[in-house]
Amino acid sequence: MPIIGICEVIYGVEDMETCTRFWTDYGLVPLTQEGVARSFGVASGSRITILPKEDPALPPANFEGPGVRRTVFGVDTLDALEGYAQRLASVTEVERVGNSLYFLDCDGNPIGLRVWDKRPVMCRPDPVNAPDAIVRLNQHRKWRVRAEPRTINHIVYWSDDYVRSYEWYRDHLDFRMSDHSKANGIFARASGTYEHHTLFWVTTGHPGREGTKGYAHIAFGVEDIDEIMVGANYMMDQGWSNQRPFAAALNRHRISSALYYYFPCPCGGDAEYHADTDYVDDGWVPRVWEIMFGAAMWGSSSPGFFGAKGISWDVQLDYGEASIEAWRGPVSQWPTGPSEGHAVTK
Ligand SMILES: [Fe+2]
Repeated sequence: MPIIGICEVIYGVEDMETCTRFWTDYGLVPLTQEGVARSFGVASGSRITILPKEDPALPPANFEGPGVRRTVFGVDTLDALEGYAQRLASVTEVERVGNSLYFLDCDGNPIGLRVWDKRPVMCRPDPVNAPDAIVRLNQHRKWRVRAEPRTINHIVYWSDDYVRSYEWYRDHLDFRMSDHSKANGIFARASGTYEHHTLFWVTTGHPGREGTKGYAHIAFGVEDIDEIMVGANYMMDQGWSNQRPFAAALNRHRISSALYYYFPCPCGGDAEYHADTDYVDDGWVPRVWEIMFGAAMWGSSSPGFFGAKGISWDVQLDYGEASIEAWRGPVSQWPTGPSEGHAVTK
């Protein structure tokens, strides 16, 4: 009964016009408007929907300000939906609306499941030349003008117990752990997807994040580094800022290998252009990483945060998810190691 990806992400926002301009500049396609809600699509059929944050059609917020008010995951069949409806009924209240289920996860985040006819997506990134590895002869790269995000690859939520959050999705929605970044969070993949992660829960123990609820950022899949940078240049030309406390501009994660570029989003959190991620299946063995080592291979800015100084090359295979047992409960030490006496909640 696979979950095949993120079908729809619904925001409650403060300024509909500014958010409309953001997603249009970002490269999403405006869809038919229904009432006050506005939706924006990508090639896979995934959509972003925005509503005024006070709109009664939205589930109650569990955080202040604008942000994601519901994430809806797609399932491939009605049988899959029925199966999850039965399983979820024992752990949370489930509302059935047509071919959708609505419920709260263990962190109080409103979530949905929906039967989804996901569209196939074709990407053909330009082959990359290197000396003695010439795969693009007498042929220049695509001359891109705008980014056109094809997919929604992942969404990130804050959690005060990221092990508990992951286990809830593993046990009730069949997510698989991809990697564990110690004292930082767990990356997990929906069972019917191949992108490295569909969800990441990041600890609220990071400085300044205590008490944070809800969503942190969302990532859109594009073809390659050129599409990321053309998109980023266009966004800046339209007046959008790429300034944020760390990891601004173009960077590459070591965990997942992905290229990423965040823009602070007027809908709340950040929007991420995302390319060249690892694709994995059930043959993948999770790794457990020291946070700074896994966070980035390189960054185009913020060398103080992601620089090579003082990083331990600490990564191991994590058979059987053995690493997570030591990280239950709130994790508050930064940047490495479990905090002394951090609470064990299970
Ligand atoms: Fe991300």
